[in-house]
Amino acid sequence: MRMWVNGELRAAEDARVSVLDHGLTVGDGVFETVKTVDGRPFALTRHLDRLARSARGLGLPAPDLDEVRRACAEVIDANPMPRGRLRITFTGGLSPLGSDRGDAGPGLVVALGEAGRRPDTTAVITVPWTRNERGALTGLKTTSYAENVVALARAHEHGASEALFANTAGQLCEGTGSNVFVVLDGQLHTPPVASGCLAGITRALTVEWTGAQETELPFDILERAEEIFLTSTLRDVQAVHRVDGRELPGGPGPVTAKAMRIFDERAGNDLDP
Ligand SMILES: Cc1ncc(COP(=O)(O)O)c(C=O)c1O
Repeated sequence: MRMWVNGELRAAEDARVSVLDHGLTVGDGVFETVKTVDGRPFALTRHLDRLARSARGLGLPAPDLDEVRRACAEVIDANPMPRGRLRITFTGGLSPLGSDRGDAGPGLVVALGEAGRRPDTTAVITVPWTRNERGALTGLKTTSYAENVVALARAHEHGASEALFANTAGQLCEGTGSNVFVVLDGQLHTPPVASGCLAGITRALTVEWTGAQETELPFDILERAEEIFLTSTLRDVQAVHRVDGRELPGGPGPVTAKAMRIFDERAGNDLDP
C-alpha cells in the first residue's frame, strides 16, 4: 500500500506525519471519503468542492485542488483494487500544543483502502446525543469525529451498522456517516441542511435524481415512516430493515427499491455527476 504524504508517495510503513500535527492534537482538519470503482473515483469534483468548503469553514488555507487530484490519481494507480475507499485528509499542520494553529502550512494525506459492497439492507439505532445545528463546525466535514466514533460503537453493540441523531431542536438530522431519507404517504423526504446534517454528496444526487423533498421532520418520524433508507459514499442508497426495536418488513420497500435502482443507473452512467 502506498500513500501520498505531504508531496510524495510513500510506503505505508514510512507514511508518517508529525506528532505535533494539529489534526492529531486537536482534530483541526477536514477530510473526504471517495469511492473508487475499478481504479476510478466517483464524484471527485463534488468531493473536492466540499473539501475546499470545509477547509474555508475551518479557516484553513485553500487546498491546491490540482495537487489533490494528482495525489488521488497517483495513489489509485499505485494500489489497484476493484472497490476502494479513497481518503483525503487536509490538516492544520505542525502547530503548538494548544488550539492556536501554527504557521507551518497545512498537511495533505491521501490513502486508499479496500471497500466491499455493502448489504442492500441494514439495521440502525437512534442515540440520545444531539447534532448541533448551530455549531462552528456544523456542515463541515472535519476530522473532529469522535462523537461519531462513540455513537457508531453503540450501534455495533446493538447489532446495527449506523446510529441516527436528532438535532438540538428534536428534529431528525443524520447518521454518524450517512444521511437519512424517509417515506411518508408514498413520498420521499430528507432533512434540510439547516437541520445540521452534512450536505452529503450521495444525498444531493439522490434528491436530484428522485425528486425527494427536503423537509423538517420530528425525530420520532422514525417510529412511523413507511420506509427508511441511508445514503453515503460507501453505502450508496441502503434500505433500513430495523430501527431500534421496530422492524420494517419487506426488504427494501417499493420507494427505496426504486431509489436504489435509479441511483445505480445514474451513477453507472456518469462517474463525475
Ligand atoms: C456526518 C456525515 N453525514 C453524512 C455523510 C454522507 O455524505 P456523502 O454522501 O458525501 O458520503 C457523511 C460522510 O460520509 C458524514 O460523515
